[in-house]
Amino acid sequence: MKGIEVELGARSYPIYVESGNLDRLGQLAAKHLPGRKVALITDENVGSLYLERARSALITSAFSVTDFILPAGEPTKSLQQADGLYARLIESRFDRSATVIALGGGVVGDLAGFIAATFMRGVPYVQIPTSLLAQTDSSVGGKVGINHRLGKNLIGAFYQPTFVLIDPSVLNTLPERERWAGMAEIVKYGLIADASLFDRVAGNLTELIHLKNPDMLEAVISQCCAIKADVVRQDEKEAGLRKILNFGHTIGHALEALTEYKFYKHGEAVVLGMRAMSWLSREMGVLADAAFQRIEPALQAFPLPQPFPPIDAAAILQKVHLDKKVVQNQINVVLLGDIGRAILKDRLEEKLLLGAVEWLLAEQRRR
Ligand SMILES: NC(=O)c1ccc[n+]([C@@H]2O[C@H](COP(=O)([O-])OP(=O)(O)OC[C@H]3O[C@@H](n4cnc5c(N)ncnc54)[C@H](O)[C@@H]3O)[C@@H](O)[C@H]2O)c1
Repeated sequence: MKGIEVELGARSYPIYVESGNLDRLGQLAAKHLPGRKVALITDENVGSLYLERARSALITSAFSVTDFILPAGEPTKSLQQADGLYARLIESRFDRSATVIALGGGVVGDLAGFIAATFMRGVPYVQIPTSLLAQTDSSVGGKVGINHRLGKNLIGAFYQPTFVLIDPSVLNTLPERERWAGMAEIVKYGLIADASLFDRVAGNLTELIHLKNPDMLEAVISQCCAIKADVVRQDEKEAGLRKILNFGHTIGHALEALTEYKFYKHGEAVVLGMRAMSWLSREMGVLADAAFQRIEPALQAFPLPQPFPPIDAAAILQKVHLDKKVVQNQINVVLLGDIGRAILKDRLEEKLLLGAVEWLLAEQRRR
């Protein structure tokens, strides 16, 4: 079975994308992993649906499996949960020969990856992403971490998995709102890197969201993984190119933070951020109006929670300045030169960003 390769020299690894892959876990684990002792980490939702399948696939291939079922939701990505996991791993006599397997969405993947990066100074780990966001984004590229009470994703590492196993059929049980949130990142890949992907997704949004065309969805997930693999290959630690993956995220993060991460899903906030940055790209004369007119309907098709919260432009700009991606008080953003072509723009004048935020707020109030 051939995977999409993330080429990083000695740290290279394959991403396997195929319906039914969960049942091939034992076989692939036997091929790639050095030891036979596995800590299988999941959350309650995913665990109740898929833990037994994953576990029996591993046991059939002679693995010894201890499972760890965590509460579902963002608060699980915490130092407290990490501490509890370290304790249980130590008590269960896990050592450096162990492997961590993350079975779940981005929360489980980020936390389990962080545990793998730090337990005994690092043990191998496998990502089995089960949400659309995790299958197309968070499971690839080795960013692992947890939240701190003073901010999201502030504690972490770059630590690559041994392999990534994606089974798109598990998306059948993913709630619709989560599917939209993941689809936002897919549209992002199209906008920043692949016009044909954008056209395919924009033209088949409803069909994809309602899982009416599994083959197309599988192909789209593979395309996203291939794009991310290519970006990570060129810039593993986000010194330059990898920043294009943050398209729409500066304003998106500010909206999430201002609503205390309770109102918007990450992907929903990114939809708003992408609208603002597409508008700004056109205003700055780098994106043709015709392209903007194709992007807008695709982004407007995303259902967002209503009504728009009482947030003003000044508050958004203030949050933007606190973002960890704002370096030395300079606002660095991602613009579009065309559909499928991102442009990194450093030192954006604040008044230009303000204009984009004001346009976005006016659009939301008009709805
Ligand atoms: N490491 C990275 O590069 C990166 C990139 C983007 C996002 N992230 C992180 O990812 C996290 C968000 O990930 P997420 O959106 O997957 O959230 P999540 O892990 O909370 O999953 C969303 C919900 O869907 C449930 N779920 C997942 N798969 C399911 C399935 N197949 N069937 C039924 N329910 C299922 C989960 O239990 C959860 O309730 C955030 O913490 C974010 O910071 C990391």
